[in-house]
Amino acid sequence: MSSILLLTSSPRAESLSTPIAVDLAEKLKSQNPGSVVVRRDLAANPLPHIDDLFTGAIRKPAEARTAEEAAAVETSDELVNELLAADTIVISTGLINFNIYSSLKTWIDNVARAGLTFKYTESGPVGLATGKKVYVVLASGGIYSQGPAAPLNHAVPYLKSVFGFLGISDIETIYVEGLAFGPEAAEKAIDAAKSRVQEIALAA
Ligand SMILES: Cc1cc2nc3c(=O)[nH]c(=O)nc-3n(C[C@H](O)[C@H](O)[C@H](O)COP(=O)(O)O)c2cc1C
Repeated sequence: MSSILLLTSSPRAESLSTPIAVDLAEKLKSQNPGSVVVRRDLAANPLPHIDDLFTGAIRKPAEARTAEEAAAVETSDELVNELLAADTIVISTGLINFNIYSSLKTWIDNVARAGLTFKYTESGPVGLATGKKVYVVLASGGIYSQGPAAPLNHAVPYLKSVFGFLGISDIETIYVEGLAFGPEAAEKAIDAAKSRVQEIALAA
């Protein structure tokens, strides 16, 4: 059974990234009968920020953790299992101060776990979350896929770095960009993203 992990991160009721990611996940599911969508609305249900207890607990083997430490990694373990079980990951975020929503960053901080999603070897770190495809729906006021503002797009290079570190290099970004350039430009951007979603779904 194929599993699609859907991570939405916008807190905005009028979010432009969320509906496109939801639509992509639903279309991928209908193209693959028997597949399931596991959704995490990271804005509506914020994950715990990593803290002193958590960072200490993940450095210990599970059997050496106190009850308090075990409780501190419980959610993270669940998130790691969801990530490892997924074949496809659909993520949505806005470009927020040139990077991702902090709710999504917290998810990343919870799933990047030595020994579970990556490991250290003599020849350097090796990702353990292999064999997955990631789609990132990125909404932004400006244009960052190309042109003069592209160097300010810290979201896509960051996501590529972190997923690459976890063993996932197959990443496609669906830009919903130029949303601040008037209603016509916004409509064009949304239509372009919807068309790409349609193409991806048909090819799935
Ligand atoms: C706090 C905040 C910071 C933002 N920072 C940027 C930015 O750095 N660059 C940009 O082009 N748009 C920026 N925007 C616009 C958002 O990227 C845009 O509204 C996008 O649609 C947000 O995604 P969402 O609709 O899924 O919430 C920002 C919006 C907010 C609310």
